[in-house]
Formats: sequence, C-alpha cells, structure tokens
Amino acid sequence: MPSNETPPDEPHANRATVTPYEVDGEIDYEKLLDRFGADRLTDAQVRRFPDHPLVRRGVFYAGRDVDRYLAAAEAGERHSIVTGRGPSGPMHLGHVLPFYFAKRLQEATGAHVYVPLSDDEKFLAKDLDLDAIAEHTRDNLRDLLAVGFDPDRTTIVIDTLDADVVYPQAVRTADAITQSTVDATYGDPETIGLSFYPAVQAVHLLLPQLLHGPHPTLVPIAVDQDPHVRVCRDVAGKERFDVGKPAALLGKFLPSLSGPGKMSSSGEEPTIDLSDDRETVRQTIDRYAYSGGRGSLDEHREHGGDPEVDVAYRYLHAFFEEDDETVERLAEEYRRGELLSGDLKALAADRIADFLEAHRRRREALGPLDPELEPYRLDDDERERLAPPTTLG
Ligand code: TRP
Repeated sequence: MPSNETPPDEPHANRATVTPYEVDGEIDYEKLLDRFGADRLTDAQVRRFPDHPLVRRGVFYAGRDVDRYLAAAEAGERHSIVTGRGPSGPMHLGHVLPFYFAKRLQEATGAHVYVPLSDDEKFLAKDLDLDAIAEHTRDNLRDLLAVGFDPDRTTIVIDTLDADVVYPQAVRTADAITQSTVDATYGDPETIGLSFYPAVQAVHLLLPQLLHGPHPTLVPIAVDQDPHVRVCRDVAGKERFDVGKPAALLGKFLPSLSGPGKMSSSGEEPTIDLSDDRETVRQTIDRYAYSGGRGSLDEHREHGGDPEVDVAYRYLHAFFEEDDETVERLAEEYRRGELLSGDLKALAADRIADFLEAHRRRREALGPLDPELEPYRLDDDERERLAPPTTLG
C-alpha cells in the first residue's frame, strides 16, 4: 500500500502532508496521483460523467475504477455513491457543494446515494464533547436534507445512532485491517479510537454492497480522504466480503477565500456560511476573496488580471457559472483588463447568494428532524441484512 510520506528523494519544497487528519504544504496534484496510485481522468471519462462543472472543469480530476461505475450508470444497472460528512461544526459553502454534485448524479442516472455521518470520528479527532457533536449532527442533517435528495434512493446513516448495524460490520472490517496498514496510511493515530475508525469508514464505503450485493460504488472525495478509500479497497479485496472495490472520484481542494489551500472551518480563515445573507456574502467576498487583479485601476486596465488565482473567478468556474462560453469570456475580459476584480466579485457574490437563498428556503421548509429523516433511514429489512438480530430469549 502506498504511504503518505513524501519519498525522501523529493525536494523539500515539494513536501506536502495529505492525510484525512492533516493537509499541509503546497499540493502537487499530479505527484499525489503517483503517490496514491490513482489515475487522471481521461477526456472520454469526463464526457461520460453527467454534465457538471466540477468534473467538466477539472476540480474532480482523478479516480480509480470509474469506468465500471460509468458503465453501470449507462446501462441502467444499480450503481451507488457514498459521500459522507464529519459533523465537527456548521457546514459552510465548500462543504455542501459535493452533496449538490451527488444530487446531480442521482438525478441524471438514478444513482443510489448513501450519506454516512461520522459523529464518532469527529468526537475522536476534535476537542468536542458528545453533546456538541450531537448538536452539529442535527444541524448538519438539516443542511443535508435541504439538498433535496430523492428519499427513495438515498440512505443516511449516523454512526452512533445506527451503531446496531455499523458496529457488527465494523468488527468484520476491523478484522481485515492491520495496525501497520493504519500506521502507514494515516500516520500514527493519537488514540486507539482513531486507529479503529478506518474500519468504520470502510463500512460506509461498502454499505451499498453489503445491502444489495456487489455493484459499482463511487466515492467522490477530496484527495485528503483517499487513504480511507485505499484501506477500504484492501478490505474489499478479501474474499470473505463478497463485494467489489469501491471506485473513487478524487477532487482538488476549492481555494479558501484568501487563496490556495483547503477551505477550512477550524482556522482563522474567513468562510462563507450557509446562513450568510446576500449583504454578508457580498461583504465577505469583497473583503477577503483573494484577487487576481492589479494594484491600481490603471495598471489593471493596462496589464489585465489573472483569473487562475482569482478566488471569485475560481468559484464561478468550479460551480456557479455553468455556461462554458460565459466562463471563458469572463476569463478573457479579465485577462485583457476590461473586467475588474470588483466585477468578478460582484458576480460571484450574487450567484452564491442566490444559491444560499434557495438552500435556506428548503432548509426552513423542513419540519421536525425526526420525521423528516425517517424516509432516509435504514428500514427493518435493511437492518436485518446488516445485523442479524441476536436471540436473547
Ligand atoms: N471522514 C470524512 C470527513 O472527515 C467524513 C466521512 C465519513 C466520509 N464517511 C465518509 C466522506 C464516506 C466520504 C465518504 O470529512
């Protein structure tokens, strides 16, 4: 299994730490593919995915085994997506975009979507008590429900709440993961809790197949979560599980407002919150979004700006402006100095505010959480398939 440690022969400047628990340094996305053993998406694969800017414009840029997933989607055979959430705090803009992407795939090809919430993982990894995690879990669930997944094709599991099924399966996967694999893949985990957690996330990624037999399952994730996929694929390769290896669709990080790197909710980094109203979004982008424009208006008019590093442009490009001609025209006008940094910011802020208003309308229309969640939870039949009832009496 490839390790996350940068090989010692690489120049120090290229050293980057990329694990589920730490992302640090300048990431060379191409080198990462060698290190992780994944493949860049081919043009043909990009075209076969349901149309979405995140794929078409190369944010999701690599994968493993995507052909089998695409073939099943094209043939109308069962195909599933697993995309989870670690409820460590309120979700912000960057957190919900992948769920909207999964919803697009669901609408386009009828994919079954599984959304596991790893409250156990975040309790173990963060300095938060169980009550705080539970509060974030409830809050995050409202945002996940607001995305508007098809309840007939979507399953939400919560690790501690659904422990009756997650735990027996995690015991099975844990039995197939060695300590040295965990150490090599994640670095030495701080506690035995985090040593065990990869067994739980392996269950998440296998859930569709444990319920419905072997079938192509796609895990769209940012590259830092790839170690979980590698461990799970190892497990899935063992005969006793009777499942195929889950496929991965690997994404680059969207830039944080202040420039390249991961959009973080933990640091000082300003973020766009799902609760931000139009004026707040405008102000945040205006104040904090890293600009690829020039220092003065005259300079900008003369030399033009750089859309590649301009965060407002990057957001339009990755998600909020679907039309190829429009996005190309914006880049071109910006490079020529006709379009100003403030223009791009105003446009991005408007799109993002529209998106958030629609999200909030759906979120506010939700009733009490329990009944809203019910159609997405595992039913008795599914529970029994995952965890045969113990016979006590
Ligand atoms: N580990 C992920 C995180 O920290 C959350 C997560 C749990 C997840 N299960 C998953 C992500 C399955 C993708 C697929 O954010």
